Amino acid sequence: MVVLLVACATSVQRQQAEQYSAKPVPIPPNPQQPGRPDTGYHYLVNGNYLKSGLPASLIKRFGLADTANLLRRTGDNASLPYDYTTIYAPNGVKVVAPNCLYCHAQKWGDSVVVGMGNSLSDYSMPTIGSMMLANAFMNATASPAEKAASANLLRAGKATAPYLVTASKGVNIADRLTAVLAAHRNPASFVWQPTPQLSIPQQVVPTDVPAWWLLKKKNAMFYSGFGRGNFARFLMAANLLTVTDTSEAAEVLTHFNDVLAYLYSIEPPKYPHPINQPLAAQGKAVFNANCSKCHGSYGPGGTYPNLLIPTHIIKTDSTLVQSNFSTPQFLQWFNKSWFAMGTQPAALVPFNGYIAPPLDGVWCTAPYLHNASVPNLETLLNSSSRPTFWARNFEKPAYDYDKVGWQYTVSTKQYTRSTYNTTLPGYSNAGHYFGDKLTTAERQAVIEYLKTL
Ligand code: HEC
Ligand code: HEC
Repeated sequence: MVVLLVACATSVQRQQAEQYSAKPVPIPPNPQQPGRPDTGYHYLVNGNYLKSGLPASLIKRFGLADTANLLRRTGDNASLPYDYTTIYAPNGVKVVAPNCLYCHAQKWGDSVVVGMGNSLSDYSMPTIGSMMLANAFMNATASPAEKAASANLLRAGKATAPYLVTASKGVNIADRLTAVLAAHRNPASFVWQPTPQLSIPQQVVPTDVPAWWLLKKKNAMFYSGFGRGNFARFLMAANLLTVTDTSEAAEVLTHFNDVLAYLYSIEPPKYPHPINQPLAAQGKAVFNANCSKCHGSYGPGGTYPNLLIPTHIIKTDSTLVQSNFSTPQFLQWFNKSWFAMGTQPAALVPFNGYIAPPLDGVWCTAPYLHNASVPNLETLLNSSSRPTFWARNFEKPAYDYDKVGWQYTVSTKQYTRSTYNTTLPGYSNAGHYFGDKLTTAERQAVIEYLKTL
């Protein structure tokens, strides 16, 4: 017993020392449970991990009907956009709810790439107005059973909407959404608390959405690498939107080893244009000399070191990691919650820095850095050329296959919500200066090589 306590104390001390490490810290391996990829995919795009939604009878009125059927789903889902699913609420009413692809898939030409982070989303408009409209519309037209079936989703929507407005389009709010939902939930029972029980973080910290095909290499989840233990529990966290209690959460969890197995099976899309192979080969040598120690090596026999890089080395915007230290209540909530219980618990272990991500399929994951602040690889690798204010066309998004990233225009201030403003807190494009010392020719070669990953 004494020995155990001592072992425990040293591991806590070690973790605390690691949080502020001056050097890159390798993340220890974190084995996961096996699962069935096909079953997981089916559940992901058809399953009822949310159990409340808008009445299916009113979907046309909510403007959610869609004929493209990009996922070739069958039944009711065939006439919904790919990021919505038909489910049955516990009272038997057919409802429609958003699914994970709302954030974790993106249209690319005529198809949709499942697992590509959606970098075209728009959280820059307050949604509280549309929530009230939906509510008023429901009150006027829905049956009592339909109202009951949508109550949990509308409740979460109303409680979170005021907190989820970003300064520009193209960045995600999931971290704050989770924090606000946690504030409204008893950690042990998940029962909804009408008034928030935790102080809600001041700022929306904008993030990109990581590609799912990278997870198979990573020993920890999320940009800060703080997601440890059982990944399946993190994967189902969206269930906090609508869950009634932990018995429902336990049922949902039983599907998520399969979902994880599906995520592990996803391969990145291939660069669709010709690649200059001799140039890429030169780039590989430059990459292996300058980048591999953090990002690993690729091809047969490839390695990935799973390193957390402290903020004083990476120097990118630290708002995201700082939020874990300045408002630790969310971490404390999580680490004493249902998520951290049972024989296969999850845990949040904060670190003052970011994981150096695997770069597989990096050609299509622009904008770059965890806060989506850099439009393409060329500017990522040459910090003096990074634009301070840059705008994408969100109506007709256009990709630049040479500079590898989004086409953009530069301005001298933020004129519209389509402009990314790197002078705002959390939106800085500083840091990751490792490409600056390369010559223009070396940089070109590295970019050619990155197209092959
Ligand atoms: C509202 C948008 C949103 C929804 C819905 C959403 N996610 Fe995420 N997800 C994110 C964002 C943003 C991150 C990155 C957060 C961070 O690292 O700070 C993320 C991170 C992840 C990661 C970690 C990837 C990595 O490499 O670290 C996985 C896996 C994941 N989500 C799976 C899911 C699944 C499965 C669902 C559905 C049950 C889901 N997500 C629903 C936005 C979303
Ligand atoms: C000291 C470790 C380290 C070195 C060396 C390094 N990187 Fe990185 N790299 C990181 C970290 C950490 C991040 C994530 C930073 C963030 O998001 O704030 C990153 C992010 C990136 C990204 C963005 C990925 C994305 O999807 O947003 C690319 C691309 C990249 N690095 C390429 C390179 C190349 C090419 C080199 C060599 C010239 C290099 N890196 C050298 C640590 C490193």
